[in-house]
Amino acid sequence: MRTVKRTLLIAFLCAFAALFATPKPALQAQSTPHRQTSPTEAAAGFDNQTNGFLEQAEYDEARKGFLTAEDIADGIGPVYNANSCGECHGNPIIGGSSQVAVLRAGHFDGENFIEHPGGSLIHSRAIDARAQERILPGNEVRSFRMSLSILGDGFIEAIDDNTLLKIAKDQPSQSEGRIHGQAILVPIEEAPGETRVGRFGWKCQQASLFSFSGDAYLNEMGITTPLFPTENTSNGRPIRDFDPVPDPDEGDNDDLEIFTKFMRSTKAPSRDMEMAGRPEVRNGERLFGELGCAICHVPTMTTLPTGFTINGGTFVIPEALGDKIIHPFGDFLLHDIGSGDGIVQNGGPATRNKIRTAPLWGLRTRNQYMHDGASLSLDEALRRHRGEAQFVTDRFNQLDRRQRQDLFAFLNSL
Ligand code: HEC
Ligand code: HEC
Repeated sequence: MRTVKRTLLIAFLCAFAALFATPKPALQAQSTPHRQTSPTEAAAGFDNQTNGFLEQAEYDEARKGFLTAEDIADGIGPVYNANSCGECHGNPIIGGSSQVAVLRAGHFDGENFIEHPGGSLIHSRAIDARAQERILPGNEVRSFRMSLSILGDGFIEAIDDNTLLKIAKDQPSQSEGRIHGQAILVPIEEAPGETRVGRFGWKCQQASLFSFSGDAYLNEMGITTPLFPTENTSNGRPIRDFDPVPDPDEGDNDDLEIFTKFMRSTKAPSRDMEMAGRPEVRNGERLFGELGCAICHVPTMTTLPTGFTINGGTFVIPEALGDKIIHPFGDFLLHDIGSGDGIVQNGGPATRNKIRTAPLWGLRTRNQYMHDGASLSLDEALRRHRGEAQFVTDRFNQLDRRQRQDLFAFLNSL
């Protein structure tokens, strides 16, 4: 009885104190862990070779898993987008990007984004015509999302939260307050209760490649696993009647392990070395820095030290991924550059019109730009940079023809 009273009193005092406490900023950069080894350049190349995380034979095997087309008997659907990971991640090698875009939709009520019934992802295929999803009336927020490359993503996963938080903190001072990237904390699905700074997906909606694998297996292919055991609906209607395989479609998470191992062992996209040395490309690279592009498209980052544990204790950074210097030309932060799709995922209402800075490594393997793929030239993509990037775009517009060509030559060398 007495303890109950005391607990109540303490709870009351805490609540009272909380009323007057100044709110702590949610995300603050701490110092990066101490390094014992000096960092070296990450393995890069579009050559189907392992970065060293897996042996080459294991890599070839895992790559096959990523490429394996699943059928109805394997659990594909009832609603889905494609039969294998490789179908959307294949250019110029397995793991890259592709022209495949997926559809998202919902409704904005003036204050909040409300997901389309059944979730904002509108699947483009179904194994039964009756289960076909389509955008229902009243869902006026619509957007395509281009497939992203996963090449080199093991290095991105190995970037410390604090590295990203520090970039976000420094941006306003580099741009007189105009640029302020937002980091969001997202759940690590394989470590319930744990979170990390999101970095994968156009909305930074995931932080772990294992989590993303489970998410993609369910949402792109309709295959449920113990990690994501619940099948999607068809526009909110149950799909029981169209689902021949009992859930979870996969009794274990083994496939997710294979996809994750494959992604973690891919090399980073490489520069076009023949172009990189040309004077016009070097001039373009200088302009890229001077204009302010590099404030968001950050050229260089270093991964955490080998042996460091991430993802809520579930992954220890191996030698192949630790202490590595990478050149992603991105900050893995969300920005409002006026191109936003109006869709909220893991980030809350403030992220509605924000998009992750597109990492520009491997840009020369794409011919449709921005999250929706609607920009068909680099010039068009740059002119869509408004909002936080407006002052940079204004400077770009002042370049003469020659300087513009040099900037594009640099971009096409990435
Ligand atoms: C129908 C096409 C399609 C299929 C199939 C597909 N993906 Fe993707 N993938 C995408 C799209 C589109 C995005 C961007 C999604 C977004 O941000 O909304 C993406 C993003 C990703 C990312 C984030 C990459 C980054 O660097 O931000 C990962 C990781 C990924 N997919 C893994 C997989 C895995 C593993 C599979 C197979 C289980 C798979 N995908 C199947 C289309 C697909
Ligand atoms: C305020 C941050 C910011 C600045 C400054 C900025 N960008 Fe971007 N950039 C973004 C974001 C965010 C996207 C993704 C937008 C989208 O998909 O809707 C993007 C997308 C791109 C793309 C499309 C890439 C793809 O794969 O689709 C290119 C190319 C690009 N930026 C080049 C540049 C260049 C060149 C400059 C300087 C002239 C620049 N950016 C300045 C944030 C920025």
